[in-house]
Amino acid sequence: MKLKDFRTYFNTELSNKYPKKEIDTFFFRTIEHLLDWQPVTVFTKGDSILTDNILTDLKEVLNRLKKEEPIQYILGETEFYGYPFIVNKNVLIPRPETEELITWILEETKEHEALHVLDIGTGSGCIPITLNKEMNAPIITAVDISEGALLVAKQNADKNNATITFLKKDILQANDFKHKFDIIVSNPPYVRELEKEEIKNNVLNNEPHLALFVEDNNPLIFYKRIADLAKEQLKVNGLLFFEINQYLGEETQEMLVNKGFKNVILKTDLFGNHRMIKANL
Ligand SMILES: C[S@@+](CC[C@H](N)C(=O)[O-])C[C@H]1O[C@@H](n2cnc3c(N)ncnc32)[C@H](O)[C@@H]1O
Repeated sequence: MKLKDFRTYFNTELSNKYPKKEIDTFFFRTIEHLLDWQPVTVFTKGDSILTDNILTDLKEVLNRLKKEEPIQYILGETEFYGYPFIVNKNVLIPRPETEELITWILEETKEHEALHVLDIGTGSGCIPITLNKEMNAPIITAVDISEGALLVAKQNADKNNATITFLKKDILQANDFKHKFDIIVSNPPYVRELEKEEIKNNVLNNEPHLALFVEDNNPLIFYKRIADLAKEQLKVNGLLFFEINQYLGEETQEMLVNKGFKNVILKTDLFGNHRMIKANL
């Protein structure tokens, strides 16, 4: 089968599930992953005959897309802040709003070097690895409760030549950090059960619920615990950064003020939603 004919088949098979633009993105990403061809080559080499092996791989991608599996899990990779990351079902797929949080941290720390940073709920390791690449010689610790996530995060650190200390910890219990930090950052689970119906199937049926959900009656459980920990573990003038639930910006801000944090600043993302918060002691 020719590449251009498979593309037509791919479009037709997915057209009742996804918009055309998204199908194009899936196709180009898949071809780049399998053949290392850029989109322009898809056009110039449209008459190329696909080998049996490639055709089998393409059909598998197509079948998994039909079941609404995220393309990042199918291909086993994604990009975050321009860096390559391995992903699988043990880790949340890194999101653009988390890139915005990174940008904020970088703006606030650019004058400093050798800062001690703690990332809580590291998942794929996207936050500490990017900070390792972008900050001036930071010393970074990252924790997660999930062994599966830590395995992926370690692979990602190797892939990106980043030096991070990874620790397995339940942050709701942990109180045994050996030293203090200049920066504590976390994108913890924050989606309430009541928000489940807003979540798309591809997320709900594929991404780890451990990374996403909290109970309706205590949605700030991680934020409260991490704020208490930060009061013990942040150095003088240390900063706390959170990615937050867009519906709970003011509650999160108020909680931090009540716990004695100063300069508690809420920030919106590109879509105007409250998405990040910064505070200091
Ligand atoms: C929203 S995900 C964030 C992942 C990654 N930092 C990112 O921004 O893409 C939350 C992470 O917190 C971890 N987590 C959940 N409960 C935890 C706990 N009690 N202690 C430590 N980590 C936990 C999950 O395994 C998951 O990796």
